[in-house]
Amino acid sequence: MKNLLPGLRVAIPGGGKALDPAVLFDTPPEDVWIEVGFGSGEHLVAQAEAHPGIGMIGCEPYINGVAALLAQIETQAICNIRILDDDARELFDVLPEAVLGRAFVLFGDPWPKRRHAKRRFLGRENLDALARMMKDQALLRFASDDMGYAVWTLEQLIAHPAFEWTARTPGDWRAPPADWVKTRYEAKARAAGRNPVYLDFRRLARP
Ligand SMILES: C[S@@+](CC[C@H](N)C(=O)[O-])C[C@H]1O[C@@H](n2cnc3c(N)ncnc32)[C@H](O)[C@@H]1O
Repeated sequence: MKNLLPGLRVAIPGGGKALDPAVLFDTPPEDVWIEVGFGSGEHLVAQAEAHPGIGMIGCEPYINGVAALLAQIETQAICNIRILDDDARELFDVLPEAVLGRAFVLFGDPWPKRRHAKRRFLGRENLDALARMMKDQALLRFASDDMGYAVWTLEQLIAHPAFEWTARTPGDWRAPPADWVKTRYEAKARAAGRNPVYLDFRRLARP
């Protein structure tokens, strides 16, 4: 971890400077995708391997998760992942407009108590920031096994003018998308008899 992390860490520039995400990677990526709260990193790694031309930024303050990700990066010789070992919101003030092609928020913390609901990630403030950083037609993918949290998140997205829910039939949100990668929390939920929901949203074209 001590050896690998410094070379892969996303450094947040100070002094109001912007961060061009393309320069984080050895070769300019075809697109840049982020995952908020990658946990142990299995989804991030699978996406990076399936899409070697994409630059993946994983955000996760949980140190054991970062260590688990680094171990996979090393053994699988993955070159297209960079790590923000901190709160994903650190990126919000420094990433330029319309630079992200996909954003993943998978099995985020549900904060079930009503008084904690404002800590849920996809509230209006964070959605405004994502809408700014995401390209037209970019994908925002959310999954959860907590129905209260999923309904709340769906309400936030439906109310937001920059996003459109892509589901047309119940099968579109009950079944995982075609390119879905299983995550650790998803496996735990299914083992406990809970069926997750999978919500894909499109960032609408700017007027
Ligand atoms: C319930 S775990 C799910 C992990 C993984 N996505 C999975 O499906 O197995 C949620 C993770 O989100 C991380 N997290 C919560 N808020 C975050 C934030 N603002 N920025 C980055 N990561 C965050 C937590 O540290 C935690 O590891």
